[in-house]
Amino acid sequence: MYKRLDRNDQCWCGSGKKYKSCHAAFDDKIIKYEHQGMIVPSRHLFKTEKDIEGIKKSAVINMAVLDEIGEKIHAGMSTQEIDDIVMNTTKKMGGIPADLGYQGFPKSVCTSINEEVCHGIPSEDIILREGDIVNVDCSTILDGYYSDSSRMFCIGEVSPEKKRLVDVTKECLEEGLKAVIPWTPIGDMGNAVHQHALKNGYTVVREIGGHGCGNDFHEEPFVSFVSEPGTGMLMVPGMVFTIEPMVNMGGNEIFVDEENDWTVYTADLKPSAQWEVELLVTETGYELLCW
Ligand code: MF3
Ligand code: CO
Repeated sequence: MYKRLDRNDQCWCGSGKKYKSCHAAFDDKIIKYEHQGMIVPSRHLFKTEKDIEGIKKSAVINMAVLDEIGEKIHAGMSTQEIDDIVMNTTKKMGGIPADLGYQGFPKSVCTSINEEVCHGIPSEDIILREGDIVNVDCSTILDGYYSDSSRMFCIGEVSPEKKRLVDVTKECLEEGLKAVIPWTPIGDMGNAVHQHALKNGYTVVREIGGHGCGNDFHEEPFVSFVSEPGTGMLMVPGMVFTIEPMVNMGGNEIFVDEENDWTVYTADLKPSAQWEVELLVTETGYELLCW
């Protein structure tokens, strides 16, 4: 249950101000929604100004790395070379690749090609070819703050069908962003993403989604992109989470590589695409922190 403090206590947010002149009204609003049966975020999910500055600095590195990959990615390159860029540039800028060693993940970045949905492991043996669509999903830690984003790259000429999948997946993310309206449930946002994919004849992966992010890699809530309107956690100003739908050209079923226990594929081996951004919920909408 959400708890008020005494009016003259110091506010829980660390501002040093008295509760009554800081977050008291904010808490009343949350309690009102909780009484209506909504799932409300716990306090530790609200980022302070300091947290947001820290996440933004981490994101500067993450985005510089993805920019550099955008300049250098080409047919004939191995995905290990992408991993090397991530490691070298992240280190040079003072950060740490968050993927490396995360739950035993062996590399610094995920590179997922065509029918690979996510968690592709870079390798010297995997060579990018003309016509591939590749998701590069990069995450950085700087001073304990996490940034997380991913982009799609088309290698040379890709088929119109794959190009359309890449473009529509980006539109799905943009539809989700339009639905980041403070004090509304996150299920509305996920539903907006899903509907746009369905309208275009695609499906959305159900088992894997977005997440709270910033002070840790994966925080609450789990962010579904196949959610029903009116469900899930309330999007409250101060929360930071990712939107990162995985959109499939064919069916939504997936399986995990039995040999490496990481890489996720579409069951029908048809292509899949994903874009990811990290955002802050604000009083008026959202602010992108990492893309
Ligand atoms: N970057 C992914 C995400 O968007 C997580 C990758 S975890 C790893 O949440 F271990 F596979 F790197
Ligand atoms: Co993520």
